[in-house]
Amino acid sequence: MCGIVGYIGKRQAAPILLEGLHRLEYRGYDSAGIAIGGKGKLRVAKRKGRVRELDTLQPQKFKGTFGIAHTRWATHGEPSDRNAHPHCDGSGRYAVVHNGIVENAAALRAQLTDRGCIFTSDTDTEVFAHLIALMDDGSPLESVVGAALGRIVGAYGLAVVDAERPDTLVVARNGSPLVLGIGDGEMFFASDPAALVRHTTSVVHLDDGEIAAVRADGYETRTLDGATTVKTPSTIPWKDEAFEKGEYTHYMRKEIAEQPDAVRRTLGGRLDTRFQTTHLGGLQLGARDLLDVRRVKILGCGAAYLAGAVGAHLIETLARIPAHAEPASEFRYRNAVVERDTLYIAVSQSGETFDTLAAVQEIKRKGGRILGIVNVVGSTIARECGQGIYLHAGPEVAVVSTKTFTCSAVAMALLAIHLGRLRDLSVASGARLVRALQVLPDHIAAILAREPEIAQLAEAFAGAEHAFYVGRAAGHAIAAEGALKLKEVSYLHAEAYPASELKHGPLALISLQTPSVVVLPRDDLFAKNISTVEEIKARGGPVIAITHPGEAPTTFDRSFEIPALEPELDPLLLNIPLQLLAYHVALQRGTNIDQPRNLAKSVTVE
Ligand code: F6R
Repeated sequence: MCGIVGYIGKRQAAPILLEGLHRLEYRGYDSAGIAIGGKGKLRVAKRKGRVRELDTLQPQKFKGTFGIAHTRWATHGEPSDRNAHPHCDGSGRYAVVHNGIVENAAALRAQLTDRGCIFTSDTDTEVFAHLIALMDDGSPLESVVGAALGRIVGAYGLAVVDAERPDTLVVARNGSPLVLGIGDGEMFFASDPAALVRHTTSVVHLDDGEIAAVRADGYETRTLDGATTVKTPSTIPWKDEAFEKGEYTHYMRKEIAEQPDAVRRTLGGRLDTRFQTTHLGGLQLGARDLLDVRRVKILGCGAAYLAGAVGAHLIETLARIPAHAEPASEFRYRNAVVERDTLYIAVSQSGETFDTLAAVQEIKRKGGRILGIVNVVGSTIARECGQGIYLHAGPEVAVVSTKTFTCSAVAMALLAIHLGRLRDLSVASGARLVRALQVLPDHIAAILAREPEIAQLAEAFAGAEHAFYVGRAAGHAIAAEGALKLKEVSYLHAEAYPASELKHGPLALISLQTPSVVVLPRDDLFAKNISTVEEIKARGGPVIAITHPGEAPTTFDRSFEIPALEPELDPLLLNIPLQLLAYHVALQRGTNIDQPRNLAKSVTVE
């Protein structure tokens, strides 16, 4: 997804901004650009493709101590040099970088063209640059930008530089994240803290409708109406090294391997062995509030939604509260009923996914109670929810979620035990589950140590273009996550089905070339799942079982067995081999594992 980075201070801006762009690469993009101010002029370089292709234009040689830079993920206009940001006005004095979408761009473009502006790109962003140039009446740059934003309908995270105002950069936010980084006699800003941590961990998150004038010695924030706002800096809890790939060839592989430690951090200080429950310090809802909860609705997108689906099963099983997960992107548009005795939960790694944020805002507007299960501290969804459970999984750089899926499901388990122990979950059951969570990281580590066996399973996909992932109840959510991982990184078509649904249609597609991965815990649904396996085998389909040890009445073509832990928590472990399976299929197919085609990390647009 698009990324913004900016700098103003005493140092040369270009190397800092280019390094910041490299930090944003993981988010997915199709072009990059930079504008550096110095000696009353702007120097701009932009290029379709990777940041290293921008480097060939030698922007690192641009002299100047202030500037802005961007990675673009095309929305209006194809990926091309001319559509890459920054965009300038006709004179080249002002440059703008923008994340988001200007909804009234066509109308503004027509008006500006009538007034003589000549457009050089197909983007919606370019209207900003022309508007600012036309509206500059010599007021401070933040006032000019504020007035121009008054003409804009849409979402933006935006940064503006004026060659003739070398002491000020202006940023604004409405629906797309922007964070200021406070340095010593220098200031930074970015759409993602990842671009800042090398320089500072002291940050200020802008809120929607805020605009900031950023100077080397500090910043001022105000609303679009001109009212001053007071911000409190917070600290990013991540070190720069956490973003390094280290010994691994891919971030995805690194993040899979990090899971034992990440899960330990999610669990840290939250297991209560005295009352055999969990302690969730980030919840502002006390026992009485939680006892009033009659339903739970969990919202998220992609892997976060699927972690929510695992959580819904856990909550319904352990707390006996009806619980349901729904894609946030659907919920926000369907005028959903929001009830006062429903607990709403938003799940998001980045805390910036636009659809999830919109669902949170809709729930709040309708008076619903919501908490966030979020990884990035201080992110918009975390702040908007105001309470919840941080994952503390560390930064996730690969576009596909692995460790944060697992940690979100673990956070769900913590919540489910908490809700359960307020109701009918016995002390003995609480103790059994708390004990299981204590050893969960070691069990994950033991599965990861058997990676070569899983790499061999990947051979079952040689020559396949389609795969089924099958599971029942929580196993279906795990199957869906396994299928999502496979399609994202290997580009194989993978479909997840509830085991019981195969005979209602998809069996027609079973063939020797269509492997089925069956999530097969040895639980009370085992016999039912075995019937599904028989159905697949009877039609000649290869079966790969992810299962527990024990006699099975049928033989699988391939299988991977893991020791059973506790039935409620086993789905979390059954997911781990599926992550490695997707990784190894992708490796064999030679795809771009960390930045799969067409995908972006943190989808901050509609
Ligand atoms: C899947 C994946 C995406 C994200 C989704 C939500 O591997 O990474 O589907 O899960 O875009 O992102 P967050 O969790 O940041 O809200």
